[in-house]
Amino acid sequence: MKSPIPYAQPSITELEVRYVTDAVLMKGTQCYAYIGRFEEAFKKYLGTQYAVATSSCTGALHMGLLALGIKPDDEVIMGDTGWIATASAITYVRATPVFVDVLPDSWCLDPRAVERAITSKTKAIMAVHVYGNLCDLEALFAIGKKHGIPVIEDSAEALGSIYRGKRAGSMGAFGTFSFHGSKTISTGEGGMLVTNDADLYRTVLTLNNHGRSPDQKKQFWPTMIGLKYKMSAVQAAIGCAQMERVEEIVARKREILAIYKQKLSRFPEISLNPEPEGMVNGAWMSTVVFSKESGVTREHLQEAFREENIDARVFFWPLSSLPMFEPKPENVVAWDIPNRAINLPCYYDMTTEEMGRVVSVLERCLRSARGGN
Ligand SMILES: Cc1ncc(COP(=O)(O)O)c(C=O)c1O
Repeated sequence: MKSPIPYAQPSITELEVRYVTDAVLMKGTQCYAYIGRFEEAFKKYLGTQYAVATSSCTGALHMGLLALGIKPDDEVIMGDTGWIATASAITYVRATPVFVDVLPDSWCLDPRAVERAITSKTKAIMAVHVYGNLCDLEALFAIGKKHGIPVIEDSAEALGSIYRGKRAGSMGAFGTFSFHGSKTISTGEGGMLVTNDADLYRTVLTLNNHGRSPDQKKQFWPTMIGLKYKMSAVQAAIGCAQMERVEEIVARKREILAIYKQKLSRFPEISLNPEPEGMVNGAWMSTVVFSKESGVTREHLQEAFREENIDARVFFWPLSSLPMFEPKPENVVAWDIPNRAINLPCYYDMTTEEMGRVVSVLERCLRSARGGN
């Protein structure tokens, strides 16, 4: 059996180890220092006024939706391509996720489909930047403005992506990020909510502290039922080290995607994550989509990667195909692409030799679908 290649893995150096060791030894009120520092570093990087570190991106989404006033029976429009966490957060506030089709090149929600899905119940548009690819924000913000609906940026997968000079996550009513172990920067588990809205920020702080407002002087005195999605100091310490290295980590992720693109450029049947004019793709995931004509399927790809002991992952199933939702096969792009796509291993420490092994599996799949061996 060949040596295994994982699909994702955090990049941990001496710096992370040093900060974590320091955090666990901190005493008294100092114990919160790393959390504040992580939030400061993150909002500086994003260019937003406020940032709240959380235990997960899912928690950040939940609190952000509550702070925006999304309530039972409201509808939130989102792309049918994505991870369940975004839709789950919408259901936590008993609102309904309305899944619309995605664009064939970016795999992010199609603004024309968003416009068609708007009803009197629509209370937000959830723009998920899928695999680091950017949503058509200009069109989405125009729709939001026309209908008086906020646009949220779930940027869990888009750290380092830049839309016309502004960082993904910094432009919507609020933005969210994930630091799960598979993500571009990681704190093991963790998340962040960012915003430029002072009221929303204060509401999130209150929610995240079991309903205790930051202005409340009386001890142990919540004024509403809140939540608790706080990040620990130890996680934040890892986050601080990761933020000192963020440019380098994103650059490496982009380099890996560029190498795959270069090595696969001779195959017109294969396309990877786009980077249109004026955009920077943070390249969280290197994703390949085969053309329909190639005859290569997800099942071929999965089997070929399994044989090589390489952990490649399937493209997101359409959310509306999951058993708890109403099927929407009319979302033809979202229902079609996963059948002929795969996510490639693309972690920071990947070697050129490992990338070569991945590329040869893709080449082999293509040759065998063409009728070769
Ligand atoms: C788009 C998107 N939203 C939300 C999440 C949830 O993040 P977390 O696992 O930190 O809650 C993820 C994580 O995979 C994601 O990809």
